[in-house]
Amino acid sequence: MKPFPKKIICIGAGYVGGPTMAVIADRCPEIEVTVVDLNADRIAAWNSAQLPVYEPGLAAVVGRARGRNLFFIGQGDGAKKMAEADLVFISVNTPTKTEGEGAGKASDLRYVESCAQFISEHARGHTIVVEKSTMPVRAADTIKRILAQNSHGGSFEVLSNPEFLAEGTAIRDLEAPDRVLIGGERPEPIEALASVYRRWVPAERIITTGLWSAELAKLAANAFLAQRVSSINALSALCEVTGAHVDEVARVVGSDSRIGPKFLKASVGFGGSCFKKDILSLVYLCEFHGVPEAAAYWQQVIELNEWQKRRFADQIIRQLGAAKGKVAVLGLAFKKDTNDFRESAALDICRQLLAAGLEVVSYDPRVDFAAFCQSAGIARGMQPAHTVREALSGASAVAVLTEWEEFRSIDWASMSLVPNAVIYDGRNILDPEMIRRANLLLHSIGGRDSD
Ligand code: UDX
Ligand code: UDX
Repeated sequence: MKPFPKKIICIGAGYVGGPTMAVIADRCPEIEVTVVDLNADRIAAWNSAQLPVYEPGLAAVVGRARGRNLFFIGQGDGAKKMAEADLVFISVNTPTKTEGEGAGKASDLRYVESCAQFISEHARGHTIVVEKSTMPVRAADTIKRILAQNSHGGSFEVLSNPEFLAEGTAIRDLEAPDRVLIGGERPEPIEALASVYRRWVPAERIITTGLWSAELAKLAANAFLAQRVSSINALSALCEVTGAHVDEVARVVGSDSRIGPKFLKASVGFGGSCFKKDILSLVYLCEFHGVPEAAAYWQQVIELNEWQKRRFADQIIRQLGAAKGKVAVLGLAFKKDTNDFRESAALDICRQLLAAGLEVVSYDPRVDFAAFCQSAGIARGMQPAHTVREALSGASAVAVLTEWEEFRSIDWASMSLVPNAVIYDGRNILDPEMIRRANLLLHSIGGRDSD
């Protein structure tokens, strides 16, 4: 085995694969990093000035490395690169299965399996295969079984190296991670991958574990984060009927150093491509391995989130009543600083508002409106606005669904909303005083109305 990897290939140029490989290439100029993807449009975008992923700081990192030691190519052209690679990252999507055993819960490993097939066909010599995508525990067994079919006399090691980056802060998370996790069965391949990260990550932040612990730890980390959001959101409903304020409760709870302040922000509900999918995968694994009580526990984190989204939309529908009217939706992304709307609360809430016969106008600074409507299955009834002002004009209710910075400083008094319009702050980012001065009403999550 070569002591240090010289050539890396990554299959999957998505939100995870693209930024992760860009940072590796930036930090390790002597390693050649090639990213392949089946989607030719995505590859073209990675090679253009309009990157397919909006992520603060990403363009600068890509700009430094692309064409030097970072390359984006179609998967068909990747066969030769695969033959030369020392390390192969699998970073393709692992969506929830829609049919067959485990439908609706289990992760669909078909893309991972086809990657393993591709590696098995084209790899030569000794190759370390790294699971970067989030996988169900024991997925490496499936990968190893496929790799064993290699007919070129190649040998393989499989590692689990799950990604903990959060969208919107991906570059910061990659450049200064809390930890890098590498799970494997033998020390040599673990050391080879650790040697890459050690170029910029302090050695004490690189945690090594067994393969199965690493696979499960990623699911567990996401489940814990989501559980905190569901816990505070569960309290938000109680706050609304008791006069407590959830932000105050969160501040007190989070100041206990055993609990900590992060991930205690009440919201309209968590979104993103990972939390729901990964918890469902965990639920399925618990059921499959005969621990239904644990499955029911984690399932409730999702139920609570679905209820929180429904509850928010119901409040608006109830307030507007038979008079109906226009609702301005501010924010379609699942969080700020990303153009990603996968599993965004806005998908469900917009659908629910439209189904209740309301007129919906939305504004988001980054999300592609047509792609959002297509994904939500919204054919008509929803209109795009190009500015906050345009969205708010004539609105009877406003739903703030993403915490974009520009929403914090809206000059409410200068907007032409209908008199007594209600602002539903699904992120608790608005200044109550500014809303009051504009003679508007405020409903915050887990707060007192117009407080
Ligand atoms: C995905 C998973 O959602 C996440 O669980 C995992 O941790 C990492 O991969 P993300 O990068 O956000 O995260 O997914 P996505 O943006 O959909 O990117 C996956 C890419 O893989 C797509 O560009 C897709 O075209 C590509 N792909 C998929 C291949 O190149 N080959 C395949 O066989 C399948
Ligand atoms: C998450 C994990 O944080 C990351 O480690 C993992 O690799 C992928 O999944 P991501 O989905 O990109 O990252 O975003 P994250 O910041 O975790 O937010 C997820 C959702 O929870 C967002 O909709 C966010 O708005 C919401 N959230 C987060 C809250 O509602 N309240 C909080 O306090 C924190």
